[in-house]
Amino acid sequence: MQKYEFPKGFKWGTATASYQIEGAVKQDGRTESIWDRFCQTPGNILHNDTGEVANDHYNRYKEDVALMKELGHTAYRFSVSWSRVLPDGIGKVNEKGLQFYSNLVDELIAAGIEPMLTIYHWDLPQVLQDRGGWQNPDSVKWFEEYSKVLFDKLGDRVKFWITLNEPYCTAFIGNYNGIHPPGLRDLGSAILVSYNLMLAHGAAVRLFRKMNLPGEIGITLNFTPAYPSTDSEDDKLVARYVDGLDVRWFVDAIFKGSFPQDLLELFKEKGISLPDFSEMSSITEKIDFLGVNYYFPTWHQYNKNSWPFCGDVVRRDIPHTDREWAIHPESFEKLLIRLKDEYDTPKMYITENGCSYNDVLTENGEILDYNRINYLSTHFKAVHSAIEKGIDIRGYMVWSLYDNFEWAFGRYSRFGIIYHDFETLKRTPKQSAYWLRDVIRSNGLD
Ligand code: FCB
Repeated sequence: MQKYEFPKGFKWGTATASYQIEGAVKQDGRTESIWDRFCQTPGNILHNDTGEVANDHYNRYKEDVALMKELGHTAYRFSVSWSRVLPDGIGKVNEKGLQFYSNLVDELIAAGIEPMLTIYHWDLPQVLQDRGGWQNPDSVKWFEEYSKVLFDKLGDRVKFWITLNEPYCTAFIGNYNGIHPPGLRDLGSAILVSYNLMLAHGAAVRLFRKMNLPGEIGITLNFTPAYPSTDSEDDKLVARYVDGLDVRWFVDAIFKGSFPQDLLELFKEKGISLPDFSEMSSITEKIDFLGVNYYFPTWHQYNKNSWPFCGDVVRRDIPHTDREWAIHPESFEKLLIRLKDEYDTPKMYITENGCSYNDVLTENGEILDYNRINYLSTHFKAVHSAIEKGIDIRGYMVWSLYDNFEWAFGRYSRFGIIYHDFETLKRTPKQSAYWLRDVIRSNGLD
């Protein structure tokens, strides 16, 4: 008898994103995305790497699906490259690009793997960025049009639709921290982008309902729980503000139809000009599931000179991954319970969780990533414990299928359960992939 058995029908697999794995950036009519452009500026990406080749998944998807099957996966989350499907961002459809996703979906279904499709995982066509990108209010229409193309072509076979992946990163990492495209450092712009993204999400959900498609639709949000580093009132206030952005911002918009009041007041106080938010009610369109991405929490201490939250992140003396992300599965369980308690969330899927280690090949060509197995098993148990407490969680997608182009970290941050050799493009399952296969086989772990 297993100690940690998951509910019957629980979906197991991995997650990826188009720009991170596909390569083939100029093949079959694909045009430039904001990531292609961003990678061209020296210094933006570690060692000036790009996603030009990545895992060459576009040309090797059959091999990849066969690997997933061999490893026992029952679901797979991937995203579509907007520039492949609509090379001008809107207007004329590129049939060849669209056909790739249709073929991929067929291949997955034939292998008994449920496709979970993310419509947008950060790679906006550059032509649309040239028109203001997500700051342009037309972006809502653009996204709706793009979604319709996918619903029309794949809606008969894809049963799980995710409108956006981590709008937090598109908005705040791209427009406030500036380490993703378009590389802005302006909080006001980031807030406007976050608002337009939410409107775009709402519009796509509405369209999906109108088209009466057989599947389900939701969104994937990332959550980074924030704690005060001490019991002081100052530290607690900072952590509460960070929580506003890193946990509550989007989930408030989707389930409550408002952005967090405490942050809006703080932003006003700091002189940031805010959109009128007059269409907030169109964001709360009912979703069928919430996709949860969780990796690590952060701890914060007060610093009056730090803008805008008057706080700094402090490193806790606990184990971290090689990416310097704190390992804290307790936060995962707490988060899932909190989401249900505070937002009465519908069923949830873990759409991403995983860890980055500097994996090395042994002399006999193995990758003995016991640290990853340890990370995953403690996080699986945390989710299991949340399920035991009545939280409705239906599946778990490990980030990621293989090491891939990890955004600003390029190829130097390995998250895969399959090792990827970026020179030969050879894929080698790591020890964690075999371990995961056994977990899936028995739908649980000891
Ligand atoms: C998430 C992203 C995903 C990947 C992981 C490590 O924020 O959605 O593409 O980069 O982090």
